[in-house]
Amino acid sequence: MCLADTLKLRRQKLADLIHFPVLLWSGQRSSRNFRANTFPFRASSHFLYFAGLPLENAVICLESGKLVLFMDKESPADALWHGASSTREAVAAQIGADAAYPLSKLAGFTEDVATIAAPDPATRLEQSNLLARTVSAQGKDLELTHAIVALRSSHDAAAIAEIRSAIAVTIAAHKAGMVSTPNASVEAQIRAAMEGVILSHNMTCAYNSIVTVHGEVLHNEDYHHAVQPNDLVLADVGAETTTGWASDVTRTWAASGKFSPTQRSLYDVVLDAHDRAIAHIRPGVEYRDVHLLACHAIAEGLAELGILRGNAEDLVEMDAHALFFPHGVGHLLGLDVHDMEDLGDLAGYEAGRTRSDRFGLGYLRLDRPLQAGMVVTIEPGFYQVPAILDDPERRETYRDVVNWDRLADFSDVRGIRIEDDVLVTQTGSEVLTAALPTDADAIQELVMSV
Ligand code: GLY
Ligand code: MN
Repeated sequence: MCLADTLKLRRQKLADLIHFPVLLWSGQRSSRNFRANTFPFRASSHFLYFAGLPLENAVICLESGKLVLFMDKESPADALWHGASSTREAVAAQIGADAAYPLSKLAGFTEDVATIAAPDPATRLEQSNLLARTVSAQGKDLELTHAIVALRSSHDAAAIAEIRSAIAVTIAAHKAGMVSTPNASVEAQIRAAMEGVILSHNMTCAYNSIVTVHGEVLHNEDYHHAVQPNDLVLADVGAETTTGWASDVTRTWAASGKFSPTQRSLYDVVLDAHDRAIAHIRPGVEYRDVHLLACHAIAEGLAELGILRGNAEDLVEMDAHALFFPHGVGHLLGLDVHDMEDLGDLAGYEAGRTRSDRFGLGYLRLDRPLQAGMVVTIEPGFYQVPAILDDPERRETYRDVVNWDRLADFSDVRGIRIEDDVLVTQTGSEVLTAALPTDADAIQELVMSV
């Protein structure tokens, strides 16, 4: 199916859900210092979903299945510095627009429209000015938000094909990172090997890469640490296609190629949680239960290693697992790595549900029954986070359930995370990232395959 046909189906589905016009802005670049030196442009994901192309400073109107495109010809200065872009007519033909106008005509299309806030503040201001109101998730805007969540939660074939192509590049990037490690002296060299693969496929990173020997910093964005032979390297790196579809993969490997016995035993605990969580995925299953299953596996594994004391059920009940696995087991994936989290919890949480204030549940990003077409990540981990483990209150709360002396035997493990992207199918699930091994022996072989 061509792009225009895919987009037509998406807007017809939107028209089945809402009966008022919608304006969606792509957004615009913001400058670093002078106007032509800008941060990289990333179009709004809601715009991309219906317009299919990363157009800058464009707007679409969607109504009753029709699409009207608004965009201007670039200025002579933009043409001089950035080159000529496709004409409005050519873009309109490519995306199957029913009409196309310059932006000055937008004012005639504002009656009773709904919209969603664009990511950049300058565009948000334009939205409010044009509509003469604030843009917030209320009234029609909220109805639109719910309709878009319904559509974007369950991916069509074109979306899944895009996610698969992002994943193929991500897998190549992770393999390159593993192979580069024995000769790397700092994290930055491994990052360069991984992002080099992504850039060479003309893709970008779907989020800031995490490539670190300090995996206990969940979103570590420093790359200057020395890589020592007894370190674990945690790499959370994912490519994004040119039309914005994301992937999100984490692997953890031994810098020397070979896990120490302590690293290997904790790696296998995390892998067991990962495997059990994935095995549970199918339509109708509550994602919260997938999370709790992973928590249970972590608690059980840590108890078997003598790090925790007690049975897994009680340990999870008291959130003891969260001392070492403080985040949720994953999230929605699509046009954004944490898909639709710009909408707060409207996408991630079923109506009527709110975030728990429990230590072990507060970072759960998805609390809905799974449905076919969803892509979710599964990413359990084990971390020794000083801010958690050295906190006097937590130490007191968990005084009797943690064997702190035994924990000290595992000081060569700061952070382990294993993350795959999983498509919920009609009858179960498909691990879209399965071509990248998770098994410790297979990972070791890859690292040592230079
Ligand atoms: N890839 C980073 C995250 O899932 O938060
Ligand atoms: Mn993730």
